[in-house]
Amino acid sequence: KDCLKTETIGKEIFYFKEVNSTNSVAKFLAKNGTDDGAVVLSEVQLNGKGRRGKKWESPSGGVWLSIILKPKISPSKASLITLATGVVVAKTLKAMGVDAKIKWPNDILINNKKVCGILTEAHANYKSVDYVIVGIGIDTNLNLDILPPIIKEGTTSLKKELKKDIDDNEIIYTFLNEFELMYEKFQKEKFEDILNEWRLLTQTIGSYVEIKQPFGKILKGHAVGITNSGALIIESENGELTKVISGECAIKTN
Ligand code: BTN
Repeated sequence: KDCLKTETIGKEIFYFKEVNSTNSVAKFLAKNGTDDGAVVLSEVQLNGKGRRGKKWESPSGGVWLSIILKPKISPSKASLITLATGVVVAKTLKAMGVDAKIKWPNDILINNKKVCGILTEAHANYKSVDYVIVGIGIDTNLNLDILPPIIKEGTTSLKKELKKDIDDNEIIYTFLNEFELMYEKFQKEKFEDILNEWRLLTQTIGSYVEIKQPFGKILKGHAVGITNSGALIIESENGELTKVISGECAIKTN
C-alpha cells in the first residue's frame, strides 16, 4: 500500500529541501522539456503561491507538490484538471479516515475548514495545451499557531483532525496513485465521469452561497449544479440562473 504504483505520474520526482514555489520550479522544468507526469516536491516553500496572487504559508509540516502535465486535450478542457485534482485529494484524504469535502472550485475542507488548496497554471494556445502545472498544498502536520490569525481561523490540518502524526509519504503515494487513475480517465476524455465524482464529493451543491466575483460583484443564491466545463450554477431568489466561472465562494450555513 505504501508505495508508488504509477507509470507516468511521479516517474520522475524532483525533491527539494527548500524552493520559492514548487509551481515555479515545475513551470521552468516543463518549459525545458521535462516529461508529462514529473513531480516537484519541497519540504519548505519560501514564497508559496496561493490563488489570486495570495501568499501560501508553506513551512515544514505540509505536503507541497506540483505535477507537470502535458495532456493531449483541447485547451477548453484544461480547467477541468483542477476539479479532477480536487476529486483525487478528497478521495486520498477519505482513505486516511477524514470526511473531506470539496468546496467549489478547488478547496478541500474537513468540518468546514480548509486543509488543502490547489493552484493550476496552464500554458496553452488556441488549439493545444503546452503544459499544465497542478500545485497541491496539504496541511498534514502543520503547526496552525504560526499562521496569521485570519488564515488560522478557517484552516485545519490532518494531524489536528486525526489527533496523530501524519506520514507524509503515505499521503503522497496514495495521492499520486489515485492521480494517475484520474489522469487516464482524463486523457480518455471521460469528463462526465469525473464531474459526477466531483458532484458526489462536494458540499457546495445544495448550499446557499455567496460568490465574490472578480470585479467585486457579489452573487447570492443556491448552488444548484455544475456545467460540463466546471462553472457553478447559482439560482437566485427570483429563480434566475447564473453560471459562474470563477470567484471566491462562501458557504452560508444558516
Ligand atoms: C489556494 O490558494 O488555495 C491554492 C494554494 C496552492 C498551494 C500549493 S503548495 C504547492 C504549489 N506551489 C505553490 O507555490 N502553490 C501550490
